[in-house]
Amino acid sequence: MYLGIDIGTSAVKLVCADIDRILATSSVGIKTSSPQPGWSEQHPDLWWKATTDALNQLAGQITMSDVKAIGLSGQMHGAVLLDRDLHPIRPAILWNDSRAVPECDELRATHPQIGRIAGVLPLPGFTAPKITWMKKHEPANYSRLAHILLPKDYIGLCLHGELATDTSDAAGTLWLDQAARNWHADIAEATGVAPNWLPPVFDGHSVVGTVTAQAAAETGLKPGVPVVAGGGDAATGAVSLGATEPGRGFISLGTSGQLFVADRRYKPNPECYVHAFAHTLPDRWYQMAAMLNGARPISWIGDQLGLSAAEVVALAETVSGDRVPIFLPYLTGERSPLGDPHVRASFFGLEDSTTRADICRSVVEAIAFCFAGAAQSFGDTIDSLPELAAIGGGSRSDLLLCLIAAVTGKPIVRSDGADAGPALGAARLAACGDSALTIADLADQPPTTDRFEPVDLAGLSERLERFRRLYRAVSTAY
Ligand code: XUL
Repeated sequence: MYLGIDIGTSAVKLVCADIDRILATSSVGIKTSSPQPGWSEQHPDLWWKATTDALNQLAGQITMSDVKAIGLSGQMHGAVLLDRDLHPIRPAILWNDSRAVPECDELRATHPQIGRIAGVLPLPGFTAPKITWMKKHEPANYSRLAHILLPKDYIGLCLHGELATDTSDAAGTLWLDQAARNWHADIAEATGVAPNWLPPVFDGHSVVGTVTAQAAAETGLKPGVPVVAGGGDAATGAVSLGATEPGRGFISLGTSGQLFVADRRYKPNPECYVHAFAHTLPDRWYQMAAMLNGARPISWIGDQLGLSAAEVVALAETVSGDRVPIFLPYLTGERSPLGDPHVRASFFGLEDSTTRADICRSVVEAIAFCFAGAAQSFGDTIDSLPELAAIGGGSRSDLLLCLIAAVTGKPIVRSDGADAGPALGAARLAACGDSALTIADLADQPPTTDRFEPVDLAGLSERLERFRRLYRAVSTAY
């Protein structure tokens, strides 16, 4: 059996799978801290503690010594900053942190071609501008910097002791030359990074190390078990669904949201804030719209109203859209398709008669509206896709999937295990590294269990128009 470890933003999630079915899962929640407005941080030690706790949970369900190989997945773009003894210098700065805006402006000015090379225009969530920020604002920390990793690669370091990353996670740093699939030394240096601070880049199914005796003692895993490089959560989510070949697309509804289309060619489209990134498998790339607020507004409003995410969605289902306010869900700014790190969330149209259910409905609708904008930014590419698969916690909501089908005009399909996506993809990469699956096998798609056709929902397109007008108005007000 194969183990996939996904270092998510809200939880570390594990999946144990055979080549064709999930055998066991476990999950341990993690908190994000925001020491200043717009900052988003997690200490790498939290990830390792949550991983060992989640492995402990798994040990009650499976025989750990049966794990034949391990794959890693994780939140992308986070800067894990290590000193020369491989110790974290400070908490990691995450993908939804918006502090490094001036550093992005500088990089655009000095490297006008960066969007074509790195697949996307500079925005503060990516890894590179965080280092330039640190050089300016935390010189003592910066002077100790000797290695930079992505979040899942820190867990790799804890498991096997090697410094390594994969193409899909390297892709989200702004330091990768996406066409060449290797580091771009000039961009690295321009952002204050010595190229030798960056780890070697592997394909996602390549074995990069084996579980050390120390990691085995801490986790209950067998020493010597191979660990493959794995991928960023977008790419591993893709591998869980067979989205490794052109014409395969999916949406992910986690803390963030993604609309992802696989390709065999590198097709940069930076002006639309669509990311063109190297996939985790050789000779493959993908295009992705990345929405910073994904399904997170559901748990956010739940936290404010004392409701679980399931309760928020259930309440939203009790009302139709015609009287509900419009919600702009940009709690942490927005990446695709707006490229706007400054915007923040707001409700519009609250009335004396507005209820909790109306508010919950407006939040769920807003998530769908973001996917409408994402689909539009892909242009013709979307028209050619027969359907979009859905993964991530938000894919449990029939209402959300119906709304997304309605506003994108695409059938949305769901399969068993959809909420385990990236961890399952990591387990499949491990199976490939162990030769139990070929790269061609990774294109197999799981059987569909539910299908949501695009239908006209009364008043929804007018509400989508109001949503767009509201953003335009709000974006001139800050
Ligand atoms: C993708 C992105 C997020 C993170 C966290 O570009 O920023 O999806 O990977 O999940």
